[in-house]
Amino acid sequence: MNTREMFAKAVDGGYAIPAFNFNNMEQLQAIIKACAETKSPVILQVSSGARKYANQTLLRYMAEGAVAYAKELGWEHPQICLHLDHGDTFELCKSCVDFGFSSVMIDGSSLPYEENIALTKKVVEYAHQFDVTVEAELGVLAGVEDDVVAEESHYTKPEEVIDFATRSGCDSLAISIGTSHGAYKFKPEQCTRDPQTGRLVPPPLAFDVLAEIEKKLPGFPIVLHGSSSVPQEYVDIINANGGNMPDAVGVPEDQLRKAAKSAVCKINIDSDSRLAFTAAVRKVLAEKPGEFDPRKYCGPARDEMVKLYKHKIIEVLGSDGKAE
Ligand code: G3H
Ligand code: 13P
Ligand code: ZN
Repeated sequence: MNTREMFAKAVDGGYAIPAFNFNNMEQLQAIIKACAETKSPVILQVSSGARKYANQTLLRYMAEGAVAYAKELGWEHPQICLHLDHGDTFELCKSCVDFGFSSVMIDGSSLPYEENIALTKKVVEYAHQFDVTVEAELGVLAGVEDDVVAEESHYTKPEEVIDFATRSGCDSLAISIGTSHGAYKFKPEQCTRDPQTGRLVPPPLAFDVLAEIEKKLPGFPIVLHGSSSVPQEYVDIINANGGNMPDAVGVPEDQLRKAAKSAVCKINIDSDSRLAFTAAVRKVLAEKPGEFDPRKYCGPARDEMVKLYKHKIIEVLGSDGKAE
């Protein structure tokens, strides 16, 4: 299904739909198992990296298989959307629409404002013919990779959102209020340090900007990218078993819970699942150096991801029981 009905209910109900990225079978199994057990609607996201890693055709049929798997698990009416994450060209979005995706993102956030509108509008006009919903992005997310520091100048400008949403025709809007992608969301100099644990305490998200946007576009679906929390227990397990992830830090879950209760109705989580997977694999391999059957470490990794996804659904997003 597309996101229209999912978002309408989420906005009304004060919760957010989980948007989980998947790149492999174990991740997809874990997502579906967690959603079937909690009866949560879900958006399965395919990034460019995932397409390169696993092949777009295979991922699309895996998603179709996931619907059958969900029913086999006893979820009578699964609510599953297959979504292109960070599409960067019209041609890529078109190929996903033609190929059976139910939702696409066109990320024109790095383009000049007018070009972002024009590109988004072109995708919307094509996608809507097939009842495929379109997510757009306005504002720049900070990233360690591109050296953009999270600062106000990159936040979404509330004064632009009405014009952007109206002229582009997008169905939902990803905004920038201080989140960023990956496991190092804030530089140590942007944080304070907890004197007891020595861990970084990140700065709060710009809830004032979110409130302004919500006031301008009441009831319009808002999306938060870069919403992993980087659970410190996984970072500790990784570091204790041969890894090296100093000062990895994410968005605290209480802030995401607060965002989910507002106009934010899609929350993107990828890195946390990577951390859960890696922590479990490192632990098994450190404890059993002779193990060479991938099922013996991918299995525990899958179990850990189920736990993580259920925790997010129930404790952070509040989407459990919304797809009975
Ligand atoms: O938005 C970024 C997602 O976490 C996907 O990352 O391109 O490495 O798959 P990726
Ligand atoms: P994280 O890196 O915080 O998991 O964000 C994922 C994301 O935004 C995918 O589009
Ligand atoms: Zn993203």
